[in-house]
Amino acid sequence: MRKFVFDCDTGTDDAIAIAAAFGSDDIEILGITSVNGNVREEFVSVNNLNLCEYLGAAVPVCHGAVWPLSCGFRNKSDMTHGKTGLGSIVLPDAEKLKFDERIASRFLYEKAMECSGELELLVTGPMTNIALAIIQYPDFSEKIRHLWFMGGSVWGGNVTTTAEFNIWADPEAAHIVLSSGIPMTMVGLDVTLKAIMEPEDMEELRKENTPARRLTADLLDFMFDRYRRGGENVIMHDALAVAAAVCPECMEYQDYWMDAETRGEYTRGHTYADFRGRSGKQPNVHAALSVNVEMFRHWLVRSIENCDRKFG
Ligand code: BDR
Ligand code: CA
Repeated sequence: MRKFVFDCDTGTDDAIAIAAAFGSDDIEILGITSVNGNVREEFVSVNNLNLCEYLGAAVPVCHGAVWPLSCGFRNKSDMTHGKTGLGSIVLPDAEKLKFDERIASRFLYEKAMECSGELELLVTGPMTNIALAIIQYPDFSEKIRHLWFMGGSVWGGNVTTTAEFNIWADPEAAHIVLSSGIPMTMVGLDVTLKAIMEPEDMEELRKENTPARRLTADLLDFMFDRYRRGGENVIMHDALAVAAAVCPECMEYQDYWMDAETRGEYTRGHTYADFRGRSGKQPNVHAALSVNVEMFRHWLVRSIENCDRKFG
């Protein structure tokens, strides 16, 4: 079994990604760490706790960073993910599951040590918690086998012309992580903007009224409605990072040396890719550049079904 910690800012598409990760064969989620991002950490962490209990997955859930490293961005309200992060969905309050007492960076470090170099990270929010683990524990980076992240893009942005949200929300953290030497795969807007679900996926999930299927269908429903109201499409940004880890054949990749821009007047939060190799630096990122959307959608629906089979 491959061992993972899932670090996220849940978030509608984070929630679906978590359910898909729980439903993926041959991987074990050792815990979930929460970070400020789509909504404030106080909502993210409660969403994660409620979600785990709702899905029947009794894994540790940790609080994490409430501010980015530069203390710049903290969401007050969110049009894309709703006020508390799960759109219009209200999960029952967790009754049995309690928060792990460790803060995210400590939990990440302890799991990295326990797994002796085999721990993998799934990161679908700003990279603050990971950067803090790198800063606080000098031997952390070398103990991570691989980091799979949704963030950035080789071309374009969704917050500014050049910056994607997760990197834009904490560029200093992204810079630390990209410079850490951890082997990593980037799933950015280049592919995620194409990972759009269809009404038939929702209908397929509605065929059985089990927890992961019902929640995913309800979240998709919220997203279809959001799109009709002029908001973001039914884009599975974060689940695509899970797919990269467990169904890599969904995508095609290219290796680049990359860094996060922290200073540009117009480009802060941009993930710079050295296309032409002019920096002379070795590639540090395996970046997804194209996706087989049909294959991805099929994988996602099967993984959600499997989550119910494993935990329901
Ligand atoms: C990223 O930002 C959030 O809206 C999503 O959860 C995803 O992680 C996309 O830019
Ligand atoms: Ca996210």
